[in-house]
Parts: sequence; structure tokens; C-alpha cells
Amino acid sequence: MTATVHLIAAARPNFMKVAPLLHELRRRAWCRPVLVHTGQHYDAAMSDVFFRDLGLPAPDHHLGVGSGSHAEQTAAVMVAYERLCRETQPDWVIVVGDVNSTMACALAAKKLCLPVAHLEAGLRSGDRTMPEEINRVVTDAVADLLWTPSADADDNLRREGVDPARIVLVGNIMIDSFEMLRDRIAAEDGAGRMGLAKGRYGVVTLHRPANVDCRESLERIVEALAAAAARLPLVLPLHPRTRSRLAEFDLLHRLAATPGLHLAEPLPYIAFMSLVASARLVATDSGGIQEETSYLGIPCLTLRPNTERPITVELGTNRLVSVETLPGALTEALGGAPAEPRSIPLWDGRTAPRVAESLERACRP
Ligand code: UD1
Repeated sequence: MTATVHLIAAARPNFMKVAPLLHELRRRAWCRPVLVHTGQHYDAAMSDVFFRDLGLPAPDHHLGVGSGSHAEQTAAVMVAYERLCRETQPDWVIVVGDVNSTMACALAAKKLCLPVAHLEAGLRSGDRTMPEEINRVVTDAVADLLWTPSADADDNLRREGVDPARIVLVGNIMIDSFEMLRDRIAAEDGAGRMGLAKGRYGVVTLHRPANVDCRESLERIVEALAAAAARLPLVLPLHPRTRSRLAEFDLLHRLAATPGLHLAEPLPYIAFMSLVASARLVATDSGGIQEETSYLGIPCLTLRPNTERPITVELGTNRLVSVETLPGALTEALGGAPAEPRSIPLWDGRTAPRVAESLERACRP
């Protein structure tokens, strides 16, 4: 009997985690993967272009949930997804990452006693002021099968009392997406298209509420970036939240007028990874970019007080910085030798087959 497996995609960082697994499961006769888009991200630039780059088919179901407060968004996903589960009765539900839809779908499915697997389980920053940390803790508490990207995640789950039989170390699925598209990323020449020389520019992404929702912190970040841009051209693709906060705080014009600062729309996956792969450094508050830069050996300054991905600091190229330490860290990174690609166990482009095998064992014990 074929198992019907829902794969939940919701927001930008999910798509590169779902794509390699969907492609892999489609090759397996025992499984019928069904792609569900909750609609948390709905702009073409935040969603559609990723489907195109990653070869994802149109979703089988689109819940059209959209934006709202955390409770509104989470509740809307739960209501819509519960209805879909009742109508379609999946055999397994796979959620990925740590966005609101991840937690919402896991909860809705478990309340219907459906088996749930979490891909990218066990990551912990210990910072419960971050909505993503709540999403991770709750999702992992109810999931039946926990697929982890690195051994530290296994340790976190065991410490929380998760039955070790449910934990499977599979590696980092995002590296599968990069390897799947490596040739197209190399052929893209994102730097050249922007008139930048390879290895002589930085890439900056910012979207965390803690950095961009507060006028004072955003103003200080803008000052630090403007100073840095005088020494190294910076490309800043703007998340919709960041663009609207910059406009609201009257900082957008200042940034746009800063020499060396290239403001851009959110970029598609291939264009963005091409820019990152040839960058001198990256400054970000993203989760996934800490991992991608580590894999590629690009120095990464993470504008956060903590990270749920400590392996990128221990074995990778990541360094945590604050608004105060950002200018000094930029100077230091520019003065040092460029980093080398790092090898992290099981970040090898073969995570999707390991996940598929684990799921097959769970579906057909
Ligand atoms: C979400 C995730 C975050 C992830 C990020 C990547 C949660 C809690 N947060 O944050 O973990 O790193 O995605 O981008 O799930 N908006 C648009 N168009 C869109 C989507 C959003 O304009 O397609 C705007 C809306 O004004 C919305 C705001 O961005 O209110 C925030 O969107 P939301 O999905 O709530 O959170 P993100 O900040 O994107």
C-alpha cells in the first residue's frame, strides 16, 4: 500500500528544505508525497520564485493563510490544516524548520492522532523570546520522529527526555538543495550582474523583529552598515518587513543614498546563493544563512545574541556579533584571510535519501 505523506511548506526558509525531500520521495514507489503550502509567505518574491528555482511543482493544496499576529497566523493555519487532514487523511505529516506554520501543522495533525515527523529537529538557542524557539520546542515535544541536522541537536532532545529511538541524525537538508543546483548557481554570476567583483563585496540580510522592529536598533545597524560600505560594497536584499520598517523610521532614503550600499528586492534562491558564494563576507540574522556560509567557507557575522546552530560557530565560519561589536568584527573579517569551506558531518548533499529511508522504516515497520 502506498503511504500518503504531507510535506508542509510555508515560508521562504522552508522551500529549500522541502524541495530535495519532495524530489526524493517522488522516486519512491511506496510513497505518495503531497505538497501543502500554508500561504504564510505569499509574495511572488518570497515564495513563487523559490518554487521555480527549486523545481517544486504547484502545491497540491494551498491554505492561503497569509499574515497576522502570531496567534492569528498560528490559529488560521491550525484551522485550515485540520480541515485538510480530516478531508485527506494523510498517513504521515512532515513539517520542516521552525516557522509558525511548522508548529501549527504539527499540533493540528497530532490532535487528530496523525504521525508527525520534524525535519531540522532539536535545534535550540535557549532564547524563548524568539518565536522560532517556541515553535521548535513545541514541535519537537509532539513529533513522533525527529530528524536532526547535527549531533548537538540529538543532545538537546535527549536532555529534554525525548526517546532516543525517535531521534535520527540525518544531516542538513539545505546542503542538498545547494548541491542539486550547484552548477546553475555557479553559472549565475550574481556578482557580475550587479557590477561587483567576486570576493570584493559583502551580503547583508536582516529581518528579525529584535533587529528591525525597534527604531533605535535599526538606526544603529544602518549606521554601522553605512560605515562598512565605505570600505566594502554591500548588497542588501530587503525582506518586506525590513523594507517597511526602514520606510516607517525614515531610514530607507538614507540607506539608498549611501555610496557602496546596493539595496535590492528579496532575491530568488539561485541568484542569492550565487551572490553569497562569491562574497567576501556575510552579515545576517537569518538561521539558514549561518549554515550555508559555513558550508561554503564564507565568513559570517550573525547579528544575534545567540544561535540555535552552535555548530556553525564551532566547526564553521560563524561569529555572533551585536550592534556594538559589528563595526570591529567587520574590520577584523576584512583584515583576515578569506575562510576555507568547512566540513561538518553529514552536511553532504545526501540528507534527503537518509530521510526517505528513515520514513520508509517508520511507514513499513
Ligand atoms: C518568518 C518566520 C521566520 C523566518 C522568516 C523568513 C515565523 C515566526 N517567522 O518570518 O522564522 O526566518 O519567515 O523570511 O514563522 N510579508 C509580506 N509578504 C510575504 C510574507 C510576509 O509582505 O510574502 C510581510 C507581512 O507584512 C508580514 C511580515 O512580512 O506581516 C512578516 O511575515 P511573517 O510570515 O509573519 O514572518 P517573517 O518575518 O517573514
